[in-house]
Amino acid sequence: MQFWFLLTLESDIFGHFCNVSKKRGSFIFSQKVNVESKGDLKTEVLYSVSKDVKDVRDGEDVVASFCVEKPIACHSYMVGRHAHLLKGTYKGRDAVLKLSWTPVNRLPEGAAYAILNKRPVECIPEIFSKGLLISDLNGYRLEFVLMENCGQSMAEYLKGKTDYQKDELVPGFVKQLTLCLAQANDIGVLHRDISAGNVCVKKNGRVYVIDWGCAKVIGWGAAEDAAEDPDTIQLKHIDVAEQWGFNAKMVGQVEMAKDPFTGTPLFMAIPILSRNLIRGILDDLESVFYVVMDAVRPAYTERDDVQGFKFLDSPSLAIIRWGLIQKDAVLLGEFGVKHINPRLKELICAMRRFLFEPENKVMNHRLWSNNKFVRRANWDAAPEFMHLKAIELLKEDNGQLKRLAKDEVNAELLKKIRTL
Ligand SMILES: Nc1ncnc2c1ncn2[C@@H]1O[C@H](COP(=O)(O)OP(=O)(O)OP(=O)(O)O)[C@@H](O)[C@H]1O
Ligand SMILES: [Mg+2]
Repeated sequence: MQFWFLLTLESDIFGHFCNVSKKRGSFIFSQKVNVESKGDLKTEVLYSVSKDVKDVRDGEDVVASFCVEKPIACHSYMVGRHAHLLKGTYKGRDAVLKLSWTPVNRLPEGAAYAILNKRPVECIPEIFSKGLLISDLNGYRLEFVLMENCGQSMAEYLKGKTDYQKDELVPGFVKQLTLCLAQANDIGVLHRDISAGNVCVKKNGRVYVIDWGCAKVIGWGAAEDAAEDPDTIQLKHIDVAEQWGFNAKMVGQVEMAKDPFTGTPLFMAIPILSRNLIRGILDDLESVFYVVMDAVRPAYTERDDVQGFKFLDSPSLAIIRWGLIQKDAVLLGEFGVKHINPRLKELICAMRRFLFEPENKVMNHRLWSNNKFVRRANWDAAPEFMHLKAIELLKEDNGQLKRLAKDEVNAELLKKIRTL
């Protein structure tokens, strides 16, 4: 586990992307080369899909190739993750291939998509194929997700639009995003990394939530011995853990231990910046709030020049933001959205009331000073920005309140696991 950085080496040094197979049913990742200058298309068969992940149907019979056009990004994180993203085509459709090394005790992104795909969830990319290329190498797995290309980030998409167009588009985007997160929450998946880079819009105007690689399955960490003991309630979605060959309880506990640290700091909710141990859908909705303000900011303002997006360190940003959410006027001014259209301002103000004024009074300092603070929402403000179906789903669930008892019990357990 200490040598995870080896996995970030170029493949010609470390050789980890070279696993040749000629079996039928193999999935083929191929390099698009200029046929005229280089002769035949060079094809590298990388993996037999059905080998490591049992019963992953959408990959089983596929003999099709993903043609790599160009790399999009290559990210490395100190926490032991390393991802390569490649743009290309699959069966004539624009596609993205994400190859990522992650610790084996974390939730694979493909497993999160497998759960999300059990029911209709709006605004998630279509997954063409997913699986493991290497199931365990020194405590790391190499997984792949081949998916629909979801366009560009919402902020980039809106850059080229007029104020009038933004007014028309953004309320619809916010409705769709809230519905997506509510439906995911309802099936038991919490995204935990809503950020500017993870909300995309396609040319046709459809909005997507991508990068479910930091997601957790709600309840796995809290279930005591459910997997072993037939008398207790079966862990929900245990079938997916079995397919992907990991222990749901162990992964659940590690993911819960990571709750206070997971996300992109600039877009993290105030309680998470303050390392709150209890995390839920309201924290992800707070991240949507920052993503929206970032995306609608006029083009002449730079993110770095805006007080609300100046990052010093997590505790300081938490306190600064708590200061900024006290009043609409301060919020709009300090997040650089004072001069946007009135309709969008109203939308942002409604989100502020929903997130921070549960009883028509701004939450006090416990929002950032008490790491067991359980937040509540002001549901009266919800219809002004949220999808009605999302309200129905979330009100039924009561935010994260229902999970409090179990999570508190596990707060003790967290102390032990957090050193992992
Ligand atoms: N399906 C997709 N369609 C279009 N672009 C994508 C897609 N998947 C990823 N990207 C692009 O690649 C970037 C990185 O992908 P992704 O967020 O999945 O990986 P990551 O390494 O976990 O990133 P981070 O942790 O920085 O958010 C995205 O911000 C986006 O610009
Ligand atoms: Mg991302």
